[in-house]
Amino acid sequence: MPAPTDHLVGLLLGAEEDWPTAFESLARRLGVLRAPDGTEHTLTTERMTIEPFNLRDRPRHELVIDRLAHWYYHPREWLKKVALMDDVYLLNSPFTFQSMEKHSAYCALMRLGMNVPETVLVPYKNPVDNARWAYTSAKYNRGFDLDEIADSLGYPLFMKPFDGGGWRGVSMVRDRDDLHRSYDDSGEMLMHLQASVPDFEHFARSLTIGPETMVMKFRPDEPMHDRYAVAHGFLDEEVGREVVTISQTVNAFFRWEFNSCEMLVKDGVVYPIDYANACPDVAVTSLHYYFPWAMSALLRWTAFCTVTGRAPRTQVDTAPWFAVADDELLDHEGRLAAYQSLADDYFEAERYRAFCESTLAHVDEMVLDWIAGDDFRRLLTSTIQQTYPPQEWDRFEAHFGGLLGLWLSDQQTAGSGG
Ligand SMILES: Nc1ncnc2c1ncn2[C@@H]1O[C@H](COP(=O)(O)OP(=O)(O)O)[C@@H](O)[C@H]1O
Ligand SMILES: [Mg+2]
Repeated sequence: MPAPTDHLVGLLLGAEEDWPTAFESLARRLGVLRAPDGTEHTLTTERMTIEPFNLRDRPRHELVIDRLAHWYYHPREWLKKVALMDDVYLLNSPFTFQSMEKHSAYCALMRLGMNVPETVLVPYKNPVDNARWAYTSAKYNRGFDLDEIADSLGYPLFMKPFDGGGWRGVSMVRDRDDLHRSYDDSGEMLMHLQASVPDFEHFARSLTIGPETMVMKFRPDEPMHDRYAVAHGFLDEEVGREVVTISQTVNAFFRWEFNSCEMLVKDGVVYPIDYANACPDVAVTSLHYYFPWAMSALLRWTAFCTVTGRAPRTQVDTAPWFAVADDELLDHEGRLAAYQSLADDYFEAERYRAFCESTLAHVDEMVLDWIAGDDFRRLLTSTIQQTYPPQEWDRFEAHFGGLLGLWLSDQQTAGSGG
């Protein structure tokens, strides 16, 4: 038997220590994987460093999980190079995220017939730092009535950057005073005004990794550690399915592999409001109960992509999606079913599930053991101590310890068929 093929997974990281440490520990425990074709494989992870590179250098990595490219351009350009020259598999690819930011995502989902709230893009408040601006704006920028736009959307509305993320520059605008203050403050940020969905019943935030989606009940007004509520089945079945389909449609359409999606639900209608997150929050102090799932899904998808040699595809292929969108014989439900099936094809959902059952059958138990053990507890404690002031440590040990204990007991109940 030849030695197992090792697959090197690069981690391009910023300030995070918690999930990378978890991911590295779990990858080490994976052991030798036997693929459906009988070949043997191992995964090795490596934290990547940033240094000069020759454009003809050959990368050693087969897959890179990127957390930097949305703000750090040197590694972003390296990612583009290795995607173009060496077919390195990227979670996520800057070719998709750089060109398709929040604004494009709104447009695409509108074209696909989703209920995106009314949205207007207004020109910059302040001149951009560019000598040509004065002439161009004097000649071609049309005056506009900000109040009139806001009135047409209704108050309260949301003002947010066209390429936003992490609540940067987002404000809720309640009246005309707010409107002008927020617009004046927007400076050189390019802003959307978006109608709000008032009195929504549910805020669903989903995290999607490859073909796996976890839909979580989100409470945006709570502090970070309390935003995700542990709630099973909080959406009725049909709405829950739509939320999953929208999340997977967004990712399959844009070739996003690892992304979160925010949707508001009111009277059975799902309104997607934010779904272009190149670097979705997976901190243990945010996800708590859902953290083990996120790590397992990331590990499974990474293993699937590397072991099966899944070919990266970074260019959007709009045609099949728009064919569904434009099919007048389909109603909303029919379109959703068709999108789900395109997403399943794109992510090879069936083959992935079979791979998880054959090659990764031990992962659930391995993750369970690890979360129940001392290693994870030490990681949780050190994360708490790095995140909160000393007087809060005991409270958060109890809080997160309790939530992860709940996850463990739920798994054990499910595992015992109870
Ligand atoms: N149209 C909207 N209706 C209701 N709430 C909204 C709307 N848009 C944004 N919000 C609120 O503002 C928050 C931040 O806006 P979002 O679009 O998610 O920006 P970011 O990409 O910075 O996270 C959302 O999580 C939500 O609580
Ligand atoms: Mg958001």
